[in-house]
Amino acid sequence: MKKQTITSIYSLKENNSPIAVLTAYDATFAKLLSRQGVEVILIGDSLGMTVQGHHSTVSVTMQDMCYHTRSVATGNEAAFLMADLPYMSYATTEMALNNATLLMQAGANMVKLEGGQWLAPTIKSLTEQGIPVCGHLGLTPQSVDALGGYKVQGREKGQAQRMLDDALALEKAGAKMLVLECIPQKLAREISEALSIVTIGIGAGKETDGQVLVLHDMLGLNEQFNPRFVKNFMQDENCNDIPTAIKHYVEAVKSGHFPADEHSFD
Ligand code: KIV
Repeated sequence: MKKQTITSIYSLKENNSPIAVLTAYDATFAKLLSRQGVEVILIGDSLGMTVQGHHSTVSVTMQDMCYHTRSVATGNEAAFLMADLPYMSYATTEMALNNATLLMQAGANMVKLEGGQWLAPTIKSLTEQGIPVCGHLGLTPQSVDALGGYKVQGREKGQAQRMLDDALALEKAGAKMLVLECIPQKLAREISEALSIVTIGIGAGKETDGQVLVLHDMLGLNEQFNPRFVKNFMQDENCNDIPTAIKHYVEAVKSGHFPADEHSFD
């Protein structure tokens, strides 16, 4: 299996092959995901919920992220590894440079951070220093308290325009990927069409360049958490085990069957 790189991920975009992304937090799942054809593994700060049992990502520290990134990097065979810079770890450009360094040294191939135009100087510095960056717009979980909860973003015209302007600013600053979370399908299409970088959607419809889900959600491990954009792949016909559920997810993303309209927002 050939290791994915930023170049091979861009080739997938050029060939209109949707990019399959999942989160993982440990070596065992990293190996499994990579063997089932997941092209990008996100070591997400969603581990604050899935691993640590909190209600948000705010409690996650750099120490946590480095530990889980190292674990994933140890098990991974072929996937491209993206790691989240956690809450307040990139409040200044200097902090972002120091903390992104630690994640890259732990085995990440790219770092992800949440926010709009205010991050442009930070992204420019990271990129100039050779650290690939992914932005994250829409529902940005680290700001859940400022947003007033986990809800769809960008439905109102002015908010949608600001998100498009933010996306263009992040691309101009040097971001190579952009996660769009919980936004209307039409807005995700408009942003994806306006950008030349890779867009990855979660609750953003099918017209982004790739899809990401939180591993524990697509395995149906939290029965209380059933948002519209999640599909439980363990409930697929002919699925009796976790490797098959992951294989089905990859196939569904690649064939354009996931997400369907029922998983998307207007
Ligand atoms: O932390 C995470 O898992 C994420 C995804 C929800 C995109 O950022």
